[in-house]
Amino acid sequence: MTFQLAKQEAASKVELYANLQSQLRSLLDGERDFIAHAANLCALLYHSLPDLNWAGFYLYKGDELVLGPFQGKPACVRIAMGKGVCGTAAAQRQTILVDNVHEFPGHIACDSASNSEIVVSLIKHERLLGVLDLDSPSVARFDDQDAEGLNELAQIFITISDKL
Ligand code: SME
Repeated sequence: MTFQLAKQEAASKVELYANLQSQLRSLLDGERDFIAHAANLCALLYHSLPDLNWAGFYLYKGDELVLGPFQGKPACVRIAMGKGVCGTAAAQRQTILVDNVHEFPGHIACDSASNSEIVVSLIKHERLLGVLDLDSPSVARFDDQDAEGLNELAQIFITISDKL
């Protein structure tokens, strides 16, 4: 099977994320494996969204975050709850947008190319599953529309996946 990524020439972010939603639904159709879906979602994001240098997951295991499927350079494996952008988002169960990671206290630098970051917490039935983390070499790459679009994609992924 080959999967063709639709070319992303959307006029707006709203359109871009609407396209990504339908691509994601096609990608996940007929399967419920959490890791396989996480791997496909981060590949879809990394190859479709402009100006990223990392896209992937940290999964909540034994009260810490552990590296999951990702695209980009190798990254740190374990992040304690409350540490870095990922651990802070997970502890607060929130989405966190960081315009300049060098100004975020305790930011964990996995790739020196990263300058801005967005972390979306993954919550299912009030349980923390982990986080989706995207990094960009550009300062202030992510905005509220990215936060909304990524949260919607994360919800589709969580809904169509069985727990680990
Ligand atoms: N910057 C993250 C660590 C993960 S990497 O960006 C892949 C953080 O501060 O939590």
